[in-house]
Amino acid sequence: MTQTSTVLIVSDRPHLAALLARAVENVVPCRCIDPREALPTLLPLVAVVDVSRDARLARAWIARLHASHVASLHLTNLPAPTGRAAAATSTLRADAPRTIVLATLFGLIDTWQAVRRAAAATAGTRQDQAVPAQAGSDPTVSGKAANLARVVSGLVSQLFEAAETGHPLTAAEADTGTEIILTAISDCGIRTWLEVIERHDQQLYQHSLSVAGYAAAFGAGLKLARADQMRLARAALLHDLGKARIPLEILNKPGRLTADEMAVMRTHPAIGADLLTAQGGFDAATLAVVRHHHEMLDGSGYPDGLAGAAIPDLVRLVTICDIHSALTERRPYRDPLPHRDAHTLMRGMLPKLDADLLRAFERVVLQGVLEDAEA
Ligand SMILES: [Fe+2]
Ligand SMILES: [Fe+2]
Repeated sequence: MTQTSTVLIVSDRPHLAALLARAVENVVPCRCIDPREALPTLLPLVAVVDVSRDARLARAWIARLHASHVASLHLTNLPAPTGRAAAATSTLRADAPRTIVLATLFGLIDTWQAVRRAAAATAGTRQDQAVPAQAGSDPTVSGKAANLARVVSGLVSQLFEAAETGHPLTAAEADTGTEIILTAISDCGIRTWLEVIERHDQQLYQHSLSVAGYAAAFGAGLKLARADQMRLARAALLHDLGKARIPLEILNKPGRLTADEMAVMRTHPAIGADLLTAQGGFDAATLAVVRHHHEMLDGSGYPDGLAGAAIPDLVRLVTICDIHSALTERRPYRDPLPHRDAHTLMRGMLPKLDADLLRAFERVVLQGVLEDAEA
């Protein structure tokens, strides 16, 4: 069978499949089918399997794709598969935030397009000893050049989904939030640092984008002044920049950190702020977010043990987006929490977090995400 540069979404949640397809189509053609349909004769490059109502049908799809050599992304709350099929299958929780699903999916598209280009180049060289195929000759080839388009399409998608699920974020606010993130990322200073983060660790990069997505939705929903929304987006994108200097064996350690390792980890806010200060061009409010996003209102945070009014509002906003995003992401040492459980856990932290802002976060950001996940 012939393989095409398309994405196939096999889903028993047509509403979610359509939302995902709209974002994917910014990068490659995409088709949605019901799980009871057959695998198309023209095979996709990558398939998403989102079949939560029938575990046997989901497993049959994973096996069918594996037998046809199609890489797949499985959205499921079941335990990860073992054996050969697992090697070609990426897995995310069924309620993973759309930014993470898109980032993972785009990563798979990148990888498999590169594999196919390499195979085509090898075949071409063998046939006529000609020069290898040039990168970029395939119109759907992406990689670094299209990375920005993908990042933005993911964030656009998340904001518009939120608007569509009927919570108070309007389409106009979503437009504003999107444009603000676009402007922030297109700033050369921000993009260069984001590339530093991406080179160090993909999960850290995805976390930075995810926090920026939540922050953009939050800032737009709160109708913050444009200058504050811009600071919020820039600061959210770079809040964990200092982790790009933390050794990966500590950053991704599967078990509990020792006291010494924790001390190293806790240097990241100051390192990030120092890097940006040394570069210059970042205002005090943005630097404060990077340095203080782990401070707690009761003074129990780090690095400076600030408390109460000493912690600016912009910092409090990013702290809430950061914690919610981190709790709902997969970590080497734990599974991701569902959005509702993450929010309940954060309400239990209330003396440490700003109660009014946490309620506002639930109202203007989470209401849409929770309805979306439970649709
Ligand atoms: Fe952090
Ligand atoms: Fe963070």
